[in-house]
Amino acid sequence: MGKYRIAWLPGDGIGTEVMEAARIVLDALHLDAEYISGDIGWDFWCTEGDAFPRRTVELLGNVDAAMFGAITSKPAKAAEAELIPALRGKALVYRSPIVRMRQMFDLYICLRPCKAYPGNPLNLKDAIDLVVFRENTEDLYSGVEFNPVPRELADLLGRISPPFAPFKDVPSGEYAVSCKVNTRKGSERIVRAAFEFAKEHGRRKVTVVHKANVVRATDGLFLEEAKKVAKEFPEIPMDDANVDAICMWLLKNPLGYDVLVAPNLYGDIISDLAAQMVGGLGFGCSGNIGTKLAVFEPSHGSAPKYAGQYKVNPIATVLAAKMMLDWLGETEKGKNVEAAVASVIREGKVRTYDMGGDAKTLDLARAIARRI
Ligand code: IPM
Ligand code: MG
Repeated sequence: MGKYRIAWLPGDGIGTEVMEAARIVLDALHLDAEYISGDIGWDFWCTEGDAFPRRTVELLGNVDAAMFGAITSKPAKAAEAELIPALRGKALVYRSPIVRMRQMFDLYICLRPCKAYPGNPLNLKDAIDLVVFRENTEDLYSGVEFNPVPRELADLLGRISPPFAPFKDVPSGEYAVSCKVNTRKGSERIVRAAFEFAKEHGRRKVTVVHKANVVRATDGLFLEEAKKVAKEFPEIPMDDANVDAICMWLLKNPLGYDVLVAPNLYGDIISDLAAQMVGGLGFGCSGNIGTKLAVFEPSHGSAPKYAGQYKVNPIATVLAAKMMLDWLGETEKGKNVEAAVASVIREGKVRTYDMGGDAKTLDLARAIARRI
């Protein structure tokens, strides 16, 4: 048995291809680990009515860390239509496995480093080095949603919320409600994680992203908690910005930012923006981190249109593996992986299509592994 037990969850689409690539790199490091494959993905939705079966949940309860690829998801009607006949009409509801995983295991930190590696022709600027801390369990991802909206909820809102007045006579089925739920605890701990990271890594400042001028209850609470936490870190300046403005400012002045922290949905959005500034989703890696378990993944999806072609860039997943090594305390090995990635990018001989080359997914992985 290896020193580490790592759940290996390729998922589907290009998820399986980028995970194969990451494994080539991990194997070159001779990490003393046992990789345990777990069932997850669209096929399990179709055949079992659950894309994240109970046995996989149990596996995650019993490992040191996990690597996850990507999973296809489809709108409600298409999802129902693809179920095997025996499962149709049973009111099964598809919910994103990765979102469920984050909530079930309280993986409250979504850590998304977006660092430009010099020589990558896709970099907006070679010196970009941003780190996004995205709250990972609450907010508009709470799953508290209604479509149709039950009468009792509409009646209650009609009584207690004056801004609900224009909606109160809209017929059921003609509108929907998704609740943004943010707690003080959830807000406090993600901001604290961002400040602790900034302190440990000698970062310049922490920028809190919100929309507190409009979404006053939830984002107001998030900002309030952020300001409290910031007082405990007087050596690290904090600023804050509205989410719309930060999208503009980040593009205009990417070197003016360092660590960003945001509630779940804004974090989702700004992390894609930041990833694009360092080459696109082929470079965006992600750690879903809790106190007991952490799950590492590329930030991109399953890209069904590329599935089976082995052409997508595996660097996001290789960098996710690097994050896993760091989290396990294998920081030397982590550095080794990052240096190998940086060197392949700098040399520019082996490039996937997104970087203007014609190398295949596994060619790029092998080129990285050779530098380990
Ligand atoms: C991400 C993805 C997911 C999210 C999807 C696949 C549910 O966009 O990890 O950023 O919205 O969190
Ligand atoms: Mg996303």
